[in-house]
Amino acid sequence: MKVREAQENDATVMALIFNAYIGKSHMVVTPRRAAEFIELMQHTRVCMLVALDIFGGVIGYAYVKPYSERGGYAGAGEVSVFLWAGRTGQGAGQQLYDLLLPTTKELGYHHLTAKIWTENTGSIRFHERNGFQTVGIQHGIGLSGERRIDMTIMERV
Ligand SMILES: CC(C)(COP(=O)(O)OP(=O)(O)OC[C@H]1O[C@@H](n2cnc3c(N)ncnc32)[C@H](O)[C@@H]1OP(=O)(O)O)[C@@H](O)C(=O)NCCC(=O)NCCS
Repeated sequence: MKVREAQENDATVMALIFNAYIGKSHMVVTPRRAAEFIELMQHTRVCMLVALDIFGGVIGYAYVKPYSERGGYAGAGEVSVFLWAGRTGQGAGQQLYDLLLPTTKELGYHHLTAKIWTENTGSIRFHERNGFQTVGIQHGIGLSGERRIDMTIMERV
């Protein structure tokens, strides 16, 4: 497995990976387009990485982006990480974070936020292992169809 910076021609697969989790692990309900990932990766304060299988195919990605465009939040970033469902539990997420987390410091982020469905205990454990702590739970803040979703807010300071 290899990790490298994302390129524009990775964006279609990244969007497919993200869209596979609609209604499962994030609150976006309309599919994201590849162009949105391209726009994000061109942002000067974004680091976007992809994990590759042995054939060079993208199996997942992770990125940090500004938490907010408001000036006072300049040192605050928000992370996101998604792998193809069949490629979890094989170390790719860890390899992505091993490279991403040191880079967040180089980009000037002193605080990272991760927002995770509370029922996604695997991702919460993954983030704990990577130095994130739970700040609290926003009970029922999300709606997935008729279902109310609790969101766990985690931080790494
Ligand atoms: C969450 C995710 C990024 C983790 O990446 P991964 O490649 O599966 O995790 P790794 O194999 O690198 O595991 C690293 C460590 O994280 C923890 N971990 C990862 N998945 C876990 C799970 N399902 N349950 C408990 N711990 C888990 C373990 O401590 C693991 O270390 P160990 O195997 O030595 O015990 C990945 O599972 C994923 O993309 N899941 C689906 C989408 C998703 O939930 N994204 C996050 C949205 S907030």
